[in-house]
Amino acid sequence: MIEITGKKKLTPFIYRPQGDKSISHRIAILGAISGQTVNISNFSGAKDCLTTLNSLRTIGASIENVGSDVSIKSWNPKGEEVHHIDCENSGTTARLLPSILGGLNVEAELTGDHSLRKRPMGRLIEPLKFVGARINDTNGKMPLKIQRDWKLTGKRVTLKIASAQLKSALLLAALFCEGSMEVIEPKETRDHTERMLVDFGVRVDKYHNKVTVKGKQQLRAPKTYYVTGDFSSAAYFIALGILSDKKIIDVKDVGLNPTRTGFLRITELMGAKISVHNKREVHGEPMGDLEIFPAKNNLRGIDIPEELVPNLIDELPLIAVIAAFSKGKTKVTAASELRVKESDRITSIITCLRKMGVDALELEDGFEITGGNPLHGSELFCSEDHRIIMSMTIAALLAEGKTKIIDSNWVSVSNSQFFNDIKKIAPESFSS
Ligand code: S3P
Repeated sequence: MIEITGKKKLTPFIYRPQGDKSISHRIAILGAISGQTVNISNFSGAKDCLTTLNSLRTIGASIENVGSDVSIKSWNPKGEEVHHIDCENSGTTARLLPSILGGLNVEAELTGDHSLRKRPMGRLIEPLKFVGARINDTNGKMPLKIQRDWKLTGKRVTLKIASAQLKSALLLAALFCEGSMEVIEPKETRDHTERMLVDFGVRVDKYHNKVTVKGKQQLRAPKTYYVTGDFSSAAYFIALGILSDKKIIDVKDVGLNPTRTGFLRITELMGAKISVHNKREVHGEPMGDLEIFPAKNNLRGIDIPEELVPNLIDELPLIAVIAAFSKGKTKVTAASELRVKESDRITSIITCLRKMGVDALELEDGFEITGGNPLHGSELFCSEDHRIIMSMTIAALLAEGKTKIIDSNWVSVSNSQFFNDIKKIAPESFSS
């Protein structure tokens, strides 16, 4: 539980996000299956990413980690036994691991916590089976049973859902397949897997939402890999900078992959001003520094363009908070994927904002918020969902009075440092 008193003094802060969560999962997995040594720096401290490391250890990868330095040393898939892997709260672990387990002929059963066991897995099993995987779900959910003797054949796979996890599962399967795997997604999603495969020497042909990878290509792992800062973690600090009265936030060394930064485009459309400095590229991933200008009085509601939704899917609850402080109506549609995240994020965020007095409405595939009125503190349960907790913390810092977030400890799923950093910006908002 954490108690936050709103409208206290905010002090200037330079935010350096921890390593990107999506990239950390992927470098651990690709590093391990390459069988070569990769020394990773700035690896994410998110519990989810540590879950991926532990899962890889369970099946024979030798991995050392000290803080954000991770060394993947060798790969020795264990032979005959059936491995039991607990993916805990991590959807990315659950959806990326099956392809490599099957590809490496490892038999395993994957399960997860009560939230992950409710999330849809049929969407993963169906395309994987189509290309030759031997894998079963349990009524479309976890546990997943991965059998041996996959015969993967590259095919054209047209995904029904815009999901980077599904696309990545197929691209990882491509590393073990005969022929060529062609994946077509309904809208372009985050492309970290594609960029990392290129960094590992794999030829990837990509044109917008179509990716082709020829099977059984050799992986040439980079000796060292620096993970760019997590844009999604930075978004909460960017939002605070936008919504404050004075300029308080600069962000350094953050990933600026255009398939992730829809949040910047949307906040700019809403009236925010953010300057990008020092743009550079590491391992094919763009990064840079951001200067955030206060824009509270200029913010206005907008209709979020549907084609941008996949590029800010994790930031949509935070957009709801910004909308609550913006004049007029903000409408999000084509975002029904939010209903099958760590919680039903449409219901979770709208319930919390309404408790704080916001005029907020659930739509089947999104939400509508009419902003501009003051928010008041309240007691909140954030559905044990890290992104709802972080979004509501930003709302609480700017609301009148006290807010209690009952399930605040779940923040460590993506960022255990979150409250430490927020306390540095708003020390008077926290009693201890
Ligand atoms: C992720 C993809 C997204 C995102 C999740 C991380 C990834 O999920 O919400 O936090 O690393 O590929 P979907 O693929 O289900 O959209």
